[in-house]
Amino acid sequence: MSESVTITDNRTGESIEIPIVDGGVDAAEWRKLLPGVWFSDPGLATTAATPSAITELDGENGILRYRGYPIEQLAEHSTFLECAYLLVHGELPDQAQHDEWIEEITHHTYIHENFRKRINEAYHYDAHPMGLLTSAVAGLSTFYPEAKQIEDPTVRREQIVRLIAKMPTLAANAYRHSVGQPFVFPDNNVDYPTNFLRMMWQIGGPYELDPALQKAMEILLILHADHEQNCSTTAARVVGSAHADPYSSVAAACAALYGPRHGGANEAVLNMLDDIGSYDNVDAFIESVKAGEGRLMGFGHRVYKNYDPRATIIKNAAYDVFEVTGKNPRLDIALKLEEAALNDDYFVSRKLYPNVDFYSGLIYQSMGFPTEMFTVLFAIGRTPGWLAHWNEMLEQNSRIARPRQLYTGPDVRDYVPLANR
Ligand code: CMC
Repeated sequence: MSESVTITDNRTGESIEIPIVDGGVDAAEWRKLLPGVWFSDPGLATTAATPSAITELDGENGILRYRGYPIEQLAEHSTFLECAYLLVHGELPDQAQHDEWIEEITHHTYIHENFRKRINEAYHYDAHPMGLLTSAVAGLSTFYPEAKQIEDPTVRREQIVRLIAKMPTLAANAYRHSVGQPFVFPDNNVDYPTNFLRMMWQIGGPYELDPALQKAMEILLILHADHEQNCSTTAARVVGSAHADPYSSVAAACAALYGPRHGGANEAVLNMLDDIGSYDNVDAFIESVKAGEGRLMGFGHRVYKNYDPRATIIKNAAYDVFEVTGKNPRLDIALKLEEAALNDDYFVSRKLYPNVDFYSGLIYQSMGFPTEMFTVLFAIGRTPGWLAHWNEMLEQNSRIARPRQLYTGPDVRDYVPLANR
């Protein structure tokens, strides 16, 4: 059996045989036979935008691996910063590389005080922190003009370190501004999740963190660290393909993540659970979704069609958190919703299962995060993934992203002066 496809142009009878390589066919070959005939692929659902060696995602079998390592093993044994190193460099670090990486990240956590204060002043106290984060990330590019030297791997790596280091600082700053509390400066003596949670919550005296919450934060960051060519990563790649600097590319990714179909979904899940209000209203809510009156947020995924492996890990982590914080009162509604949906033909036939966002919001809320911060937490986690893909794209020397369209507008017509319309 030949590993290829044959395409015939029925208008001319001409054919072309295209080999299937790594599960894909080269569109450049198609173009040779059919110049000016474009693929129609809304949402790029059938398009492989790039070869990539970073993350393997097998939606049919619920598999997620970073550089070959199963997400389950990484969530259990690794740390977020180790996974970040893995995503960016391709291999797990040895001890010396590990120590150097931690040292580097730890010493780039500060942001310029003038910038931090000024950007806060520019926003209302009730500004959504994701809006503040997005513009703060974009603004950082002005502090590091050398970041424009995107062809220099050393300069690229420096910005990667800076961005991973500074995201928790920017995130905590956005939160403290929103609640009118003084900013807490980063502590270089504690690990990454502890430093972030401390910047979020410390007030007055010393800050003590329960190890179960530290571990849950670590797991949540690991689970979000990469997800191959998702919407925000694609946004970063598209902007990066124009050779914009990494801060602008990551700001574009933040903007995409802000949307409720993507990183905004966990916030939407909590709002949905609040709207449902009580256990007894679950059945009626399921019926309203089936009637097309809205979506069951936290369900469904473009790629996972059996289960989202991250959802399984996160559900277990949720119980560990609730041991410390007490059960989130919305948990019962969520569990009933999940059970009802998993047994309902509408959801089963469409292969709709809980995704990572279904439980992450409950954990975040139990840990004290307001819903507006949920997407910000996702952004901290996803930053290494965005940057690993941005870096890989530049190493591949790829072309500028510039898709085609199928024009469906009016044919040529003459301009009519306003007075005659
Ligand atoms: N609730 C009810 N029906 C749904 C849902 C849902 N959550 N998701 C999809 N459907 C239905 C949809 O109406 C359609 O039905 P029909 O064939 O009768 O028209 C069918 O399932 C296929 O839906 P689709 O919109 O073509 O699927 P998609 O692959 O384009 O969308 C999705 C994927 C994640 C955007 C979508 O499932 C969704 O909106 N889910 C809710 C939001 C959510 O939880 N997003 C987080 C995704 S995971 C985090 C991340 O990686 O960003």
